[in-house]
Amino acid sequence: MKDSKLPVLFVTSEAYPLIKTGGLADVSAALPNALRKMGIDVRLLLPGYPVVLEQLSLIEVHENIRVFPLQEPVRLLAGIMPDSITPVYVVECPALYERKGGPYQDSNGKSWYDNPLRFGILSKIAAKFGQHHFLFKPQIIHCNDWQTGLVPAFLNFDSKRQAKTLMSIHNMAYQGVFGPEIIALFGLPPESFQMSGLEYYGQVSFLKAGLYYSDWISTVSPTYAKEIQTPEYGCGLEGLLTQRQNKLSGILNGIDTIAWNPESDPNIKNHYSIKKVVNKKRNTQALRTQLNLAPTTAPLLGIITRLAEQKGIDLLIPIISEIIKSGAQIVILGSGDKGLESSLENLAKTYPKQMSVNIGYDEKLAHQIEAAADMFLMPSKFEPCGLNQIYSMRYGTIPIVRRTGGLADTVIDATLENIKNKTATGFVFDKASSDELLLCIQRALKLFHDDKKWTGLQVNGMSRDFSWHKRAEEYYSLYQNLLKF
Ligand code: ADP
Ligand code: GLC
Repeated sequence: MKDSKLPVLFVTSEAYPLIKTGGLADVSAALPNALRKMGIDVRLLLPGYPVVLEQLSLIEVHENIRVFPLQEPVRLLAGIMPDSITPVYVVECPALYERKGGPYQDSNGKSWYDNPLRFGILSKIAAKFGQHHFLFKPQIIHCNDWQTGLVPAFLNFDSKRQAKTLMSIHNMAYQGVFGPEIIALFGLPPESFQMSGLEYYGQVSFLKAGLYYSDWISTVSPTYAKEIQTPEYGCGLEGLLTQRQNKLSGILNGIDTIAWNPESDPNIKNHYSIKKVVNKKRNTQALRTQLNLAPTTAPLLGIITRLAEQKGIDLLIPIISEIIKSGAQIVILGSGDKGLESSLENLAKTYPKQMSVNIGYDEKLAHQIEAAADMFLMPSKFEPCGLNQIYSMRYGTIPIVRRTGGLADTVIDATLENIKNKTATGFVFDKASSDELLLCIQRALKLFHDDKKWTGLQVNGMSRDFSWHKRAEEYYSLYQNLLKF
């Protein structure tokens, strides 16, 4: 048990199961939970989207909270995260958060016009926690992604500031860049609007604010921590990150090993374990039937993803016919870019018995695919950490990934040597090209026919410890270090 008094406010724009668009939600639920199990008093702060309010088990209501520049006061609802021990504060402000659509975009995929206000207010309330006498007095405010980037800026200019700030980057590609009127809107001092501050090419960057003013920066894998200091991955902020490299570290994400457990996953019919991985095959056959794919003993390749540029699906599309020709089948679950959605749907029409494309968001199907697929594709152009390759290894589903970010840090390539020394867990390629991806998939398809070696890869992956326990220890040490300066 650690210093049970260490109070930490974890500010995030999504947390599973309340609201989720990607891995940030998984991390925002599982990491605080793991920290609490270690005795740390971590609490969440989230916006009050309708789905969040519906699911919250309410404990207390704090009325009449004034937040500049809102005219009307907001309410803070205090509750507990579902299936967890983590307390959560939810900002109830119907004008900003209670609307149909996603947390960041409307139902047509257009960003909410008032996102700077929506997430500026979230950040302003988080910063209030960092002052004296406000409900709970965190010593650390742990911020996540651009939506919370203004927290360190607000606190930096606050003479009553009590808390240290940690800015965690889950994705550099989303920066929250808005007009310069933000400065006056939130009463930030004019001197913050400069290159040595939160100014970014004449605009205000929420992420840059977080990176510039936080006490420490972390990201979700050691490799991504290095990559983002280069022009290729830094998305324009590599200079600042290089300048702050002594205050920047990478901690790999863990996974929720209870929610993602092939021995007990309630979403799958046929449970299996490392002792009898062969039982996984029943799930493969079941999914083929469910999705109307032809029965075969050839491998099933799975993909579950946001359909975004980042994920490298454009590298896959030109080689799908080639993969199908080998006899393999492909199942895809994802949504996002309309062009990618329709290209994939067209391919599925061409190969109805070989390829199943499921556009949408479906948690249950995601678990079923992990349990059923033989291989899992993640040809990402960049990947800060990535969770699905880890879920895959846990489910004996062999990941095929590009060597970048957290993919490079978690998947060990099936070279002859790594197979021999029993460390190999997947297949890794370097260049973001369709040709290299195809060669890598072909390597995997070849090894698939060698039962013994294939089972070896599955067992190697399934025996790795991907739990949050060790990671949470690393965050705890980081928090402790932060308190020292
Ligand atoms: P990112 O956060 O960049 O999207 P991650 O691999 O870190 O990538 O996390 C993605 C998370 O979102 C995983 O839990 C994955 O299972 C889930 N996910 C992504 N797309 C879908 C979908 N269409 N349906 C269900 N789950 C999805
Ligand atoms: C981001 C990244 C992903 C990471 C997730 C959780 O969405 O794209 O790689 O796993 O955040 O940290």
